[in-house]
Amino acid sequence: MSAPTTPSGGEAPLVTIRDLVKRYRQGRGGSRAHEVVAVDGVSLEIRAGETFALVGESGSGKSTVAKMLLRLEPPTSGTIEFEGRDVWALDRAGLKTLRRRLAIVFQNPVASLNRRRTVEEIIAAPLEIHRMGDRGARRRRVHELLELVGLDTVHARRLPSALSGGQCQRVGIARALALEPRLVILDEAVSAVDVSIRAQILNLLRDLQELTGVAYLFISHDLAVVHSIAPRLAVMQHGRIVEAGTRTEVFGRPQHEYTRALLAAVPEPDPANPFPLRRTKESA
Ligand SMILES: Nc1ncnc2c1ncn2[C@@H]1O[C@H](COP(=O)(O)OP(=O)(O)OP(=O)(O)O)[C@@H](O)[C@H]1O
Ligand SMILES: [Mg+2]
Repeated sequence: MSAPTTPSGGEAPLVTIRDLVKRYRQGRGGSRAHEVVAVDGVSLEIRAGETFALVGESGSGKSTVAKMLLRLEPPTSGTIEFEGRDVWALDRAGLKTLRRRLAIVFQNPVASLNRRRTVEEIIAAPLEIHRMGDRGARRRRVHELLELVGLDTVHARRLPSALSGGQCQRVGIARALALEPRLVILDEAVSAVDVSIRAQILNLLRDLQELTGVAYLFISHDLAVVHSIAPRLAVMQHGRIVEAGTRTEVFGRPQHEYTRALLAAVPEPDPANPFPLRRTKESA
Protein backbone atom coordinates (compact mmCIF):
# COMPACT_ATOMS: atom_id res chain seq x y z
CA MET A 1 0.00 0.00 0.00
CA SER A 2 1.34 3.40 -0.84
CA ALA A 3 -1.71 5.61 -0.40
CA PRO A 4 -0.75 9.17 0.45
CA THR A 5 -1.54 10.21 3.98
CA THR A 6 -3.54 13.29 3.26
CA PRO A 7 -3.69 15.99 5.90
CA SER A 8 -7.19 17.14 6.63
CA GLY A 9 -6.37 20.87 6.62
CA GLY A 10 -6.91 22.93 3.50
CA GLU A 11 -3.44 24.44 3.48
CA ALA A 12 -1.00 23.30 0.78
CA PRO A 13 1.39 20.69 2.19
CA LEU A 14 4.98 21.62 2.97
CA VAL A 15 6.26 18.38 1.45
CA THR A 16 4.55 16.22 -1.15
CA ILE A 17 6.23 12.96 -2.09
CA ARG A 18 4.75 10.93 -4.95
CA ASP A 19 5.63 7.40 -6.01
CA LEU A 20 9.21 7.75 -4.85
CA VAL A 21 11.54 4.93 -5.84
CA LYS A 22 15.23 4.41 -5.14
CA ARG A 23 17.15 1.45 -6.47
CA TYR A 24 20.79 0.85 -5.73
CA ARG A 25 22.93 -1.29 -7.97
CA GLN A 26 24.96 -3.73 -5.94
CA GLY A 27 28.10 -5.56 -6.93
CA ARG A 28 30.18 -4.97 -10.06
CA GLY A 29 28.32 -4.45 -13.35
CA GLY A 30 27.48 -7.26 -15.76
CA SER A 31 25.12 -10.06 -15.05
CA ARG A 32 26.26 -10.42 -11.45
CA ALA A 33 25.01 -6.96 -10.56
CA HIS A 34 21.73 -6.93 -8.74
CA GLU A 35 19.58 -4.17 -7.46
CA VAL A 36 18.46 -3.28 -3.98
CA VAL A 37 15.12 -1.52 -3.94
CA ALA A 38 15.65 0.78 -0.96
CA VAL A 39 12.46 2.80 -1.50
CA ASP A 40 9.62 1.29 -3.47
CA GLY A 41 6.80 3.68 -4.36
CA VAL A 42 6.48 5.93 -1.34
CA SER A 43 3.89 8.72 -1.29
CA LEU A 44 3.29 11.01 1.65
CA GLU A 45 2.57 14.57 2.68
CA ILE A 46 3.96 16.66 5.50
CA ARG A 47 2.11 19.83 6.40
CA ALA A 48 3.50 23.03 7.86
CA GLY A 49 4.14 22.94 11.58
CA GLU A 50 3.35 19.27 12.15
CA THR A 51 5.40 16.30 13.29
CA PHE A 52 5.22 13.44 10.85
CA ALA A 53 7.03 10.21 11.65
CA LEU A 54 8.49 7.48 9.50
CA VAL A 55 8.88 4.33 11.53
CA GLY A 56 10.16 0.92 10.53
CA GLU A 57 12.84 -1.64 11.16
CA SER A 58 16.46 -1.19 10.12
CA GLY A 59 16.86 -1.22 6.34
CA SER A 60 13.23 -0.37 5.60
CA GLY A 61 14.23 2.72 3.62
CA LYS A 62 13.54 5.57 6.05
CA SER A 63 16.90 7.34 5.70
CA THR A 64 16.86 6.90 1.95
CA VAL A 65 13.61 8.89 1.77
CA ALA A 66 15.28 11.61 3.87
CA LYS A 67 18.39 11.63 1.67
CA MET A 68 16.31 12.18 -1.46
CA LEU A 69 14.41 15.00 0.22
CA LEU A 70 17.71 16.58 1.27
CA ARG A 71 19.06 16.17 -2.27
CA LEU A 72 21.84 13.90 -1.09
CA GLU A 73 20.66 11.01 -3.31
CA PRO A 74 18.74 11.38 -6.58
CA PRO A 75 15.51 9.37 -6.85
CA THR A 76 15.30 6.60 -9.44
CA SER A 77 11.78 7.84 -10.11
CA GLY A 78 8.98 9.78 -8.47
CA THR A 79 8.83 13.38 -7.28
CA ILE A 80 9.46 15.36 -4.13
CA GLU A 81 8.02 18.81 -3.72
CA PHE A 82 9.00 21.21 -0.98
CA GLU A 83 6.80 24.29 -0.70
CA GLY A 84 5.27 23.28 -4.01
CA ARG A 85 8.55 23.09 -5.92
CA ASP A 86 10.24 19.95 -7.22
CA VAL A 87 13.44 19.75 -5.15
CA TRP A 88 15.25 17.94 -7.95
CA ALA A 89 14.43 20.65 -10.50
CA LEU A 90 15.47 23.77 -8.60
CA ASP A 91 17.56 26.58 -10.01
CA ARG A 92 20.39 28.16 -7.98
CA ALA A 93 18.13 30.54 -6.10
CA GLY A 94 15.62 27.80 -5.38
CA LEU A 95 18.39 25.58 -4.07
CA LYS A 96 19.62 28.29 -1.76
CA THR A 97 16.12 28.73 -0.37
CA LEU A 98 15.79 24.98 0.12
CA ARG A 99 19.08 24.90 2.05
CA ARG A 100 17.74 27.58 4.36
CA ARG A 101 14.31 26.12 4.91
CA LEU A 102 15.23 22.47 5.32
CA ALA A 103 17.61 21.30 8.02
CA ILE A 104 18.69 18.03 9.58
CA VAL A 105 19.69 16.82 13.01
CA PHE A 106 21.90 13.75 12.89
CA GLN A 107 21.75 10.59 14.91
CA ASN A 108 25.07 10.73 16.68
CA PRO A 109 25.19 14.04 18.54
CA VAL A 110 28.88 13.91 19.39
CA ALA A 111 30.22 12.67 16.05
CA SER A 112 28.08 15.13 14.07
CA LEU A 113 29.83 18.16 15.59
CA ASN A 114 33.27 19.30 14.46
CA ARG A 115 35.60 18.55 17.37
CA ARG A 116 37.91 21.47 16.60
CA ARG A 117 35.24 24.14 16.50
CA THR A 118 33.67 25.89 19.44
CA VAL A 119 29.96 25.64 20.02
CA GLU A 120 29.61 29.22 18.79
CA GLU A 121 31.45 28.46 15.55
CA ILE A 122 29.36 25.34 14.99
CA ILE A 123 26.03 27.12 15.44
CA ALA A 124 27.17 30.20 13.50
CA ALA A 125 28.36 28.17 10.49
CA PRO A 126 25.01 28.13 8.65
CA LEU A 127 24.62 31.86 9.36
CA GLU A 128 28.03 32.51 7.79
CA ILE A 129 27.36 30.33 4.78
CA HIS A 130 24.15 32.24 4.10
CA ARG A 131 25.83 35.57 4.95
CA MET A 132 23.38 36.44 7.68
CA GLY A 133 24.35 39.53 9.63
CA ASP A 134 27.79 40.69 10.75
CA ARG A 135 29.92 39.05 13.43
CA GLY A 136 28.13 40.78 16.28
CA ALA A 137 24.68 39.93 14.98
CA ARG A 138 25.70 36.30 14.48
CA ARG A 139 27.04 36.13 18.02
CA ARG A 140 23.78 37.49 19.38
CA ARG A 141 21.84 34.98 17.32
CA VAL A 142 24.04 32.13 18.63
CA HIS A 143 23.35 33.19 22.21
CA GLU A 144 19.65 33.42 21.46
CA LEU A 145 19.72 29.91 19.96
CA LEU A 146 21.64 28.51 22.93
CA GLU A 147 19.00 29.89 25.26
CA LEU A 148 16.28 28.53 23.02
CA VAL A 149 17.64 24.98 23.36
CA GLY A 150 18.20 25.33 27.08
CA LEU A 151 21.97 25.78 27.16
CA ASP A 152 23.80 28.44 29.12
CA THR A 153 25.62 30.93 26.89
CA VAL A 154 28.91 30.10 28.66
CA HIS A 155 28.91 26.99 26.47
CA ALA A 156 29.46 29.16 23.40
CA ARG A 157 33.22 29.17 23.87
CA ARG A 158 33.53 25.47 24.66
CA LEU A 159 34.47 22.58 22.43
CA PRO A 160 32.02 19.69 21.93
CA SER A 161 34.33 17.46 24.01
CA ALA A 162 33.42 19.54 27.06
CA LEU A 163 29.71 18.74 26.62
CA SER A 164 27.57 15.72 27.43
CA GLY A 165 25.78 13.74 24.72
CA GLY A 166 22.49 15.46 25.51
CA GLN A 167 24.13 18.89 25.39
CA CYS A 168 25.74 18.05 22.04
CA GLN A 169 22.31 17.11 20.70
CA ARG A 170 20.99 20.47 21.88
CA VAL A 171 23.82 22.14 19.94
CA GLY A 172 22.85 20.09 16.89
CA ILE A 173 19.26 21.27 17.27
CA ALA A 174 20.38 24.90 17.70
CA ARG A 175 22.45 24.63 14.52
CA ALA A 176 19.50 23.15 12.64
CA LEU A 177 17.25 26.01 13.78
CA ALA A 178 19.76 28.78 13.05
CA LEU A 179 18.23 29.76 9.71
CA GLU A 180 14.63 29.39 10.91
CA PRO A 181 13.84 26.37 8.73
CA ARG A 182 10.31 25.27 7.97
CA LEU A 183 11.20 21.59 8.22
CA VAL A 184 13.78 19.78 10.32
CA ILE A 185 14.53 16.16 9.58
CA LEU A 186 15.34 14.24 12.74
CA ASP A 187 16.85 10.92 11.64
CA GLU A 188 17.11 8.73 14.73
CA ALA A 189 17.94 11.96 16.56
CA VAL A 190 17.25 10.61 20.03
CA SER A 191 18.29 6.99 19.47
CA ALA A 192 21.88 7.51 20.58
CA VAL A 193 21.18 9.69 23.61
CA ASP A 194 20.80 8.19 27.02
CA VAL A 195 17.26 7.10 27.88
CA SER A 196 17.18 9.50 30.83
CA ILE A 197 17.93 12.43 28.50
CA ARG A 198 15.62 11.29 25.72
CA ALA A 199 12.40 12.59 27.28
CA GLN A 200 14.03 15.98 27.85
CA ILE A 201 15.08 16.25 24.21
CA LEU A 202 11.61 15.20 23.04
CA ASN A 203 10.06 17.86 25.28
CA LEU A 204 12.49 20.43 23.94
CA LEU A 205 11.52 19.53 20.36
CA ARG A 206 7.84 19.96 21.23
CA ASP A 207 8.46 23.34 22.87
CA LEU A 208 10.54 24.56 19.93
CA GLN A 209 7.82 23.53 17.51
CA GLU A 210 5.23 25.43 19.48
CA LEU A 211 7.47 28.48 19.58
CA THR A 212 8.69 28.51 15.97
CA GLY A 213 6.05 26.60 14.00
CA VAL A 214 8.73 24.36 12.49
CA ALA A 215 7.62 20.98 11.08
CA TYR A 216 9.51 17.78 11.85
CA LEU A 217 10.07 14.67 9.81
CA PHE A 218 10.81 12.35 12.69
CA ILE A 219 12.53 9.13 11.65
CA SER A 220 12.85 6.31 14.13
CA HIS A 221 12.74 2.55 14.56
CA ASP A 222 11.28 3.08 18.04
CA LEU A 223 7.48 2.98 18.13
CA ALA A 224 7.26 4.22 21.72
CA VAL A 225 9.24 7.35 20.87
CA VAL A 226 7.20 7.89 17.71
CA HIS A 227 3.99 7.52 19.67
CA SER A 228 5.09 10.17 22.13
CA ILE A 229 5.96 12.78 19.49
CA ALA A 230 4.12 12.26 16.21
CA PRO A 231 0.37 12.84 15.67
CA ARG A 232 0.70 11.35 12.16
CA LEU A 233 2.95 8.60 10.95
CA ALA A 234 3.74 6.12 8.24
CA VAL A 235 5.08 2.64 8.88
CA MET A 236 7.69 1.39 6.40
CA GLN A 237 8.69 -2.14 5.58
CA HIS A 238 10.96 -3.21 2.70
CA GLY A 239 10.87 0.24 1.11
CA ARG A 240 7.09 0.58 1.16
CA ILE A 241 4.60 2.34 3.36
CA VAL A 242 2.52 -0.48 4.76
CA GLU A 243 0.40 1.63 7.04
CA ALA A 244 -0.24 5.33 7.51
CA GLY A 245 -2.56 7.58 9.42
CA THR A 246 -3.01 9.43 12.67
CA ARG A 247 -1.45 8.14 15.87
CA THR A 248 -4.89 7.08 17.07
CA GLU A 249 -5.61 5.13 13.88
CA VAL A 250 -2.28 3.39 13.61
CA PHE A 251 -1.77 2.62 17.29
CA GLY A 252 -5.40 2.01 18.12
CA ARG A 253 -6.37 -0.16 15.18
CA PRO A 254 -3.27 -1.46 13.48
CA GLN A 255 -4.42 -2.81 10.10
CA HIS A 256 -1.25 -4.45 8.98
CA GLU A 257 0.33 -7.59 10.32
CA TYR A 258 3.69 -5.91 10.45
CA THR A 259 2.42 -2.98 12.54
CA ARG A 260 0.76 -5.36 14.96
CA ALA A 261 4.04 -7.22 15.31
CA LEU A 262 5.93 -3.96 15.86
CA LEU A 263 3.41 -2.90 18.49
CA ALA A 264 3.65 -6.22 20.26
CA ALA A 265 7.41 -5.73 20.44
CA VAL A 266 7.22 -2.32 22.16
CA PRO A 267 8.95 -2.69 25.51
CA GLU A 268 7.28 -1.81 28.78
CA PRO A 269 7.16 1.74 30.20
CA ASP A 270 9.46 4.18 28.55
CA PRO A 271 10.11 7.53 30.27
CA ALA A 272 9.40 9.25 26.96
CA ASN A 273 6.05 7.57 26.73
CA PRO A 274 4.37 7.20 30.07
CA PHE A 275 0.96 6.51 28.53
CA PRO A 276 -0.27 3.10 27.49
CA LEU A 277 -0.42 2.91 23.71
CA ARG A 278 -4.15 2.61 23.36
CA ARG A 279 -5.09 5.40 25.67
CA THR A 280 -3.89 8.36 23.67
CA LYS A 281 -5.75 11.57 24.34
CA GLU A 282 -5.46 12.55 20.73
CA SER A 283 -8.76 13.33 19.11
CA ALA A 284 -7.47 13.53 15.53
N1 LIG B 1 24.33 3.67 -0.86
C1 LIG B 1 23.70 2.50 -0.84
N2 LIG B 1 24.06 1.50 -1.68
C2 LIG B 1 23.41 0.33 -1.67
N3 LIG B 1 22.38 0.03 -0.86
C3 LIG B 1 21.98 0.98 0.00
C4 LIG B 1 22.62 2.25 0.06
N4 LIG B 1 21.99 2.99 1.03
C5 LIG B 1 21.03 2.21 1.53
N5 LIG B 1 21.02 1.00 0.93
C6 LIG B 1 20.10 -0.11 1.22
O1 LIG B 1 18.78 0.40 1.13
C7 LIG B 1 17.95 -0.17 2.12
C8 LIG B 1 17.32 0.94 2.96
O2 LIG B 1 18.33 1.60 3.71
P1 LIG B 1 18.03 2.82 4.67
O3 LIG B 1 19.33 3.28 5.20
O4 LIG B 1 17.17 3.79 3.99
O5 LIG B 1 17.19 2.11 5.84
P2 LIG B 1 16.71 2.71 7.24
O6 LIG B 1 15.26 2.41 7.34
O7 LIG B 1 17.14 4.11 7.37
O8 LIG B 1 17.50 1.78 8.26
P3 LIG B 1 18.13 2.15 9.72
O9 LIG B 1 16.99 2.10 10.68
O10 LIG B 1 19.11 1.04 9.95
O11 LIG B 1 18.78 3.48 9.63
C9 LIG B 1 18.84 -1.12 2.92
O12 LIG B 1 18.67 -2.41 2.41
C10 LIG B 1 20.22 -0.61 2.64
O13 LIG B 1 21.16 -1.64 2.74
MG1 LIG C 1 18.41 5.12 8.71
